Amino acid sequence: MGVKAWIQESFPIDQESLIKLTAEPIPNHLKRWWWALGGTPLYMFVVQIITGVMLIFYYVPESDMAYESISNITFTVKYGWLIRSIHRWSSNIMIAALLLHMIRVFFTQTYRKPREINWMFGVVLFLLTLMFGFTGYSLVYEQMSYWAMKVGTGIAAATPFIGGWIADFMRGGPEIGQSTLTRFYLFHVVLLPFFTMLAIGVHLYLIRIHGVSELKFKGEEEVEKKTFPLWPDHVFTELIMVTIIMILLVTLSLLFPVNLGERANPNVTPMHIKPEWYFYPVFRWLKVTNLTVGVLGPMIFLLILFFWPFIDKFFEKKFPGKEIAFWIGVIGLLTINGFLFWEIFGH
Ligand code: HEM
Repeated sequence: MGVKAWIQESFPIDQESLIKLTAEPIPNHLKRWWWALGGTPLYMFVVQIITGVMLIFYYVPESDMAYESISNITFTVKYGWLIRSIHRWSSNIMIAALLLHMIRVFFTQTYRKPREINWMFGVVLFLLTLMFGFTGYSLVYEQMSYWAMKVGTGIAAATPFIGGWIADFMRGGPEIGQSTLTRFYLFHVVLLPFFTMLAIGVHLYLIRIHGVSELKFKGEEEVEKKTFPLWPDHVFTELIMVTIIMILLVTLSLLFPVNLGERANPNVTPMHIKPEWYFYPVFRWLKVTNLTVGVLGPMIFLLILFFWPFIDKFFEKKFPGKEIAFWIGVIGLLTINGFLFWEIFGH
C-alpha cells in the first residue's frame, strides 16, 4: 500500500468537501482593505499565542521573581527582548485593528439582521482582548503594572452591589500579592486564550454561514453580483496583508523595543499612574467624575454597544431613514477621541 493510500485509509478526509469549503465566492468589495480588517486581529492573535508560549518558557509567576524573570528575558535571554517586544506591539496592533474593524462594521451597519448575534460575539471578543491587555501588563510586576492592578481592582470594587466580590475575586484576598499574580497569570495564559478561541470560532463560523455583507453603493444596487474565489485570490490578498503587518510589527519592535520600569513597590505611589493607551478614555472619564459615575459610565456604554443592533432597530422603526445610528456613531467616536486626546495632552 502506498503512503498516500495509507494516509487516506487511516485519516479519511472527504477531499471533495474540503475543496468546496475553500471555494466560497468572496464579494468583490473585500478587496478594499477596510472591509477585510477582521483578518488583522486574527493574525495578531496567532502571533500572541506563538510569542506568548515562548515567553512562558522563562516567565516565573511569583511575586518576588516575576520582575526578575522579565528582566532576564529582556537583558539576558537570546532574542528575549525581541520576542517580548513583538508580543507587546502585536497586542497594540490587535486592539487598534479591532477598533477599526468595529468602526467599519458599525458605519456600514452590517450588524443588522441576521448578524445581530455575531456583533454581540464581537463585543465579547473586544472585552476579552482588553482583559488580555490588562492582565498581561500586570504580569511584568513593575511599578506601573502594580499600580495599574491597584487602580483596576479599586475601580472594580466600585461596581454597584457586586463590586466587593469582584475585587476580592481579582485579588484573591484583601491585598494585591501572590494570589493576584497567580489569578492574572491563569487568566492571561489559560482562561482568556480558551474563551477567545471559542468566541473567534463562533464568530468565523457565523460569518461563513451568513457570508460577509454585500456592499451596496447608492444607485448601484442593480449592478450584478461580482465575486472572486477564496482560493487562491483571497488567500493571496490576505498573505500580502500578513506580510505588510509582519514587516510593520518587526520594524516597530526593532526601533522601539519594550523597556522595563522600576520594580513594583507597594509603599511608593508613582507620581503619574498611566494605563495603556486603550484605557486612556476611561481613565480620563474616571478622573473627571466621581468613582460611582466613573464606573457606571463605561458599563452603560458597554451595554449600549452590546445591544446596539436592537437599539438601532428601534430607532429605525421610530424614525425611518433619519440615519440616527450614523449620528450617534459620530458623536460617540468624537467623544471617545476627545477623552483620549485630553488624557494624552492634559494634566
Ligand atoms: C479577535 C477579534 C475578531 C476577529 C478575529 C474578527 C474577525 C472577523 C472577520 C475575518 C470578519 C470578515 C470581514 C472582515 O474582515 O471585516 C468579521 C466580520 C464581522 N465582525 Fe469581526 N472579528 C473580531 C472582533 C469583532 C468585534 C469586536 C466586532 C463588533 C463589536 C465584530 C463584528 C463583526 C461583524 C458584525 C461582522 C460581519 C460584518 C459583515 O458581514 O460585513 N467583530 N470579523
